[in-house]
Amino acid sequence: MADGTRENRPFDKKILQEIEDNLDPADPSKCPMGIEILGYGEISTVFGLPSVAGRSWACKRLPIFTSEKEAQDYIELYKKYNLKLSECGINVPQFDGVSVIGHGGIYVDYLLQERLDEASVCHNVIHGVSEDHAVFMLERIVCEAAGVWRFNKKKTGMALGLDGQLSNWAVKDFNHENFKIDPDTKFYFIDTSTPFIRKNGMEQINGRLLLKSAPKILQSLLAWIFLKDIIGRYYNFRDVIIDLFANLHKEQLPDLIDPGIDRINHLLENGLSEFKIKPVLRSEIDKYYNEDKFIWALYLGVRRFDRYVKTRILRRRYEFILPGKIKR
Ligand SMILES: Nc1ncnc2c1ncn2[C@@H]1O[C@H](COP(=O)(O)OP(=O)(O)OP(=O)(O)O)[C@@H](O)[C@H]1O
Ligand SMILES: [Mg+2]
Repeated sequence: MADGTRENRPFDKKILQEIEDNLDPADPSKCPMGIEILGYGEISTVFGLPSVAGRSWACKRLPIFTSEKEAQDYIELYKKYNLKLSECGINVPQFDGVSVIGHGGIYVDYLLQERLDEASVCHNVIHGVSEDHAVFMLERIVCEAAGVWRFNKKKTGMALGLDGQLSNWAVKDFNHENFKIDPDTKFYFIDTSTPFIRKNGMEQINGRLLLKSAPKILQSLLAWIFLKDIIGRYYNFRDVIIDLFANLHKEQLPDLIDPGIDRINHLLENGLSEFKIKPVLRSEIDKYYNEDKFIWALYLGVRRFDRYVKTRILRRRYEFILPGKIKR
């Protein structure tokens, strides 16, 4: 059975509403309901919720909606994306979504996911295995991701995209003892909170929602300059592969890039030749990484400045939880 909403609603809306009412985005650790930050992405923050009936949940809080309908529609799209990925043969952890009322008239989505062992997330796994295993893991991830492009090739009118970075995959049924990556190792894809779904070429998420975390005056400019480019690359298998490898710089593992590319280019010519993707070059990966690093560092800098103005000068609430220093 595909993973997903296997059971009744796992998390009581009342609890999430209480968390939202008591959450100070400037210091989430103060929330009396006991939430724990599990990870920071470029856009959102993932936290662990107190366990309910022996089950632990991770969730992403998206404080970006101006109406209940907008918040609900996003949850529907999130669920659809999870289900479609499962149809492509990609495992996703059990999921659900709840929208609650935020501060100052906004609506907030909590996108829930079964909480996994942090050690099983691939950007952690890769640091604990040999070079051979690490390269094999990258190959396996590319093969898993291929399910999406196999689906897209069918031309059903729907196309899916995927953010294939290492931190977005986790080893399924991870076992600390005797851990090794072999052909039977299964993966979960965990970064499903941005539903990349196009219907007849039309993006189903409102891209501007993703820019809500930027200062207002910059949103139109950003939408015009790079929103299309940034979203577009998640639909292009070759770009997703380049992104996965560029990520090795961020993981401080640049020595894996060359052996990794050799293996992937071999795969693209053999097992994945159906996609007719031209070989990936080291120079493209390095160039892409430098540009990407610049864009996200700039974006975070602008958001920190906006938070400073809102909270220190205007003495207003700032809705987003921003990461501390990120090692890139
Ligand atoms: N279900 C989960 N269980 C445990 N840890 C998780 C889970 N989901 C996410 N994490 C942790 O949080 C990190 C960020 O999660 P994820 O990649 O889903 O979000 P993101 O990168 O913040 O997304 P975006 O950049 O699209 O906002 C993961 O790399 C992982 O360390
Ligand atoms: Mg991520």
